[in-house]
Amino acid sequence: MQIIYTIAELRLRLASQKNIGLVTTMGNLHAGHIHLVNLAKQQSDCIVVSIFVNPLQFGVNEDLAAYPRTLDADCKKLEAAGVDIVFAPSESEVYPTPQTMTILPPAIAEELCGASRPGHFAGVATVVSKLFNIVRPDVAVFGKKDFQQLFIIRQLVSQFNLPIEIVAGETIREEDGLAMSSRNGYLNPAERLEAQRLSRALKLVVDAVKKKKLGFTEIESQTTQYLTQLGWIVDYISIRNQDTLLPASTDNQKLVALGAARLGRTRLIDNIEFDLG
Ligand code: PAF
Repeated sequence: MQIIYTIAELRLRLASQKNIGLVTTMGNLHAGHIHLVNLAKQQSDCIVVSIFVNPLQFGVNEDLAAYPRTLDADCKKLEAAGVDIVFAPSESEVYPTPQTMTILPPAIAEELCGASRPGHFAGVATVVSKLFNIVRPDVAVFGKKDFQQLFIIRQLVSQFNLPIEIVAGETIREEDGLAMSSRNGYLNPAERLEAQRLSRALKLVVDAVKKKKLGFTEIESQTTQYLTQLGWIVDYISIRNQDTLLPASTDNQKLVALGAARLGRTRLIDNIEFDLG
C-alpha cells in the first residue's frame, strides 16, 4: 500500500490505472469504513482511500480542531483491508488558495442536518467534487449512515454529469445498535450506554408509522419529546421520502426515519429505511 500526500504524485500513480474505486473519509477509521472499502474492492481494481479532515464542512463552533486524527492507525487498518493507495493531503494541498468557488447544493441541503449545520453540505459537495477531480474514480462508495450526504452526492454526480458510479454501503452498527461513527469516541461511558437509544427511537418511529395510528408529525414530536426527557438535545426526528428526502406523505411507500441529536458535546445521527409496500 502506498501513502501519497500530493495531487501531482497521485495523478502520476493513477495515470495508467483503469477501474479506480474511491472511498472518501476523514480518517479515524472503524468497521463502517472498512465495509465501504470491501464494497469498493468488489467493483474496482485499484482502491484509493482519501483521508482528509475538510475544514470547509465544519461550522465555526464545531469540532474541527478536536476531530481525531489517527493517520498511522488508519493506514494499518487500510493495509490489512487490501487498499492500494491512501491519499492523505494536507490542507494547503487541497486548498492552496481560499476556496472562493463552491458547489451550491440543492435546497434540501438546508433541511435536516443542514438546518443546524449551515453550509455543511456545500463544504461536503465542494471537497467531494475536488476529490473526484483529483482521483477520477470509476466507482465511489459512501455510507448510508450519512443518508442526506449520500443523497446530495448522488445529485452532484447526476446534475454535473460525472462519469462515476455511486455505491451505497449499509450502516454498520455496534452490538447494541449504535451506528458506527468516528464521533462515538467522544462519548463518556454513561453517554455511550445511552447512545443506543437513538437507533431504538428510530425503530419506534418505524413501528409507529407501520401501525398507522398516529400522523407523521405526531410521531416525530413524540419521539423528540421522549429523547429530550432522557437528556438528549434533539436536532430533528423526521420521516421522509427515501427517493426525494422531502417530508413523507401518506401515499409514499419507501420511507426513511432520520434523526440527529446531541448527548453532551457529541452529535449523533442515524436513519432507518423502510418500505410500506
Ligand atoms: O462522510 C465523510 O466522512 C465526509 O463528509 C466526506 C464525504 C469524506 C467529505 O469530507
